[in-house]
Amino acid sequence: SAERNYKISVIPGDGIGKEVMPEGVRVLERAAGLYGFTLDQTWHDFANCDYYARHGQMMPDDWKAQIGDPHAIFFGAVGWPDTVPDHISLWQSILQFRREYDQYINLRPVRLMPGVPCPLAGREPGDIDFWVVRENTEGEYSSVGGKMFPGTPREIVMQETVMTRHGTERVLRYAFDLARTRERRHVTSATKSNGIAISMPWWDERVEEMAAHYPDVTHDKYHIDILCAQFVMNPDRFDVVVASNLFGDILSDLGPACTGTIGVAPSANINPERTTPSLFEPVHGSAPDIAGKGIANPIGQIWSAAMMLEHLGEPDAAAAIMRAVETVLAEPGLRTRDLKGSADTEQCGRAVAEALS
Ligand code: NAI
Ligand code: MG
Repeated sequence: SAERNYKISVIPGDGIGKEVMPEGVRVLERAAGLYGFTLDQTWHDFANCDYYARHGQMMPDDWKAQIGDPHAIFFGAVGWPDTVPDHISLWQSILQFRREYDQYINLRPVRLMPGVPCPLAGREPGDIDFWVVRENTEGEYSSVGGKMFPGTPREIVMQETVMTRHGTERVLRYAFDLARTRERRHVTSATKSNGIAISMPWWDERVEEMAAHYPDVTHDKYHIDILCAQFVMNPDRFDVVVASNLFGDILSDLGPACTGTIGVAPSANINPERTTPSLFEPVHGSAPDIAGKGIANPIGQIWSAAMMLEHLGEPDAAAAIMRAVETVLAEPGLRTRDLKGSADTEQCGRAVAEALS
């Protein structure tokens, strides 16, 4: 039916973004054929550093109009630090999307997959399987602050954390709703109310208030420092972990790192109300050190495609992609070199597409 035609903005970006994107799209197209939906793709040649070289900015002024009103944005990776400083390339592209589209949830799975050596001793696939939910729009990453008397002995600098009831409640609600979809139905909150003695006790109160609406979901809290230690020592404890912007930034890198290579990790920047498009991208960057060689691992991009399909309401296709990914990762001849395999980017992507059917 018409409702199962999805408009997707495809933005490959820089470096290996341009190499893994075709594999993500290949798998999406195969899934569409098998599961009976269609994809209406628009590829955009902006939000990359070649565009910057031509135009002096990362995106056209009317980028929002050009993107239009897609169901989702499928993004590769941006950045080419030899020609454009990272604070410009990221701020003028991916961070614009997060803000302008109010993608207030940053969601990352932490799941140990077959074929991916775990840096934590003695863990097997199945042992580690949880989500990190990061607040993506406010908190510690505010532009409230300033400097005075620069370069003098009186120099001062301040940057304020800004937490709103609206912003905090909506990320907590998302986390509790997500826990409801899971077998263990458990939420862990990252706090630091012993040290950050104004805003974090307030965050804890919001957690308790929200938890009261979810009697079927259990919850606990850890201070961020010991929570980091527990990610490493007892990752099997966690189901859904919710955190402010800064704490979530740290946990959402630490979590995937505890389950192996950056080449497989996906992420989503979500507007749960769907008033604006959500964006799906691998965790990794443009990897200038291996770009152009055709050896990048496409699994992070492909797993991001699965997250996008889940968001679009195609859970069967999403689950099938994940089964295909597990099949391919278990096979040394089909996985890429970062996982001690022998496949190149395209061979690995084709293998996932084939394993789908
Ligand atoms: P990176 O993630 O691009 O690379 C880190 C290391 O991991 C490199 O050795 C790279 O070869 C390896 N790696 C990354 N992805 C891989 C894959 N799919 N397969 C195999 N190996 C992979 O991070 P780095 O080097 O710090 O940043 C490079 C550029 O990417 C910078 O401009 C940075 O700002 C940007 N970046 C962009 C992000 C985004 O678009 N959301 C996220 C992170 C970084
Ligand atoms: Mg980070």
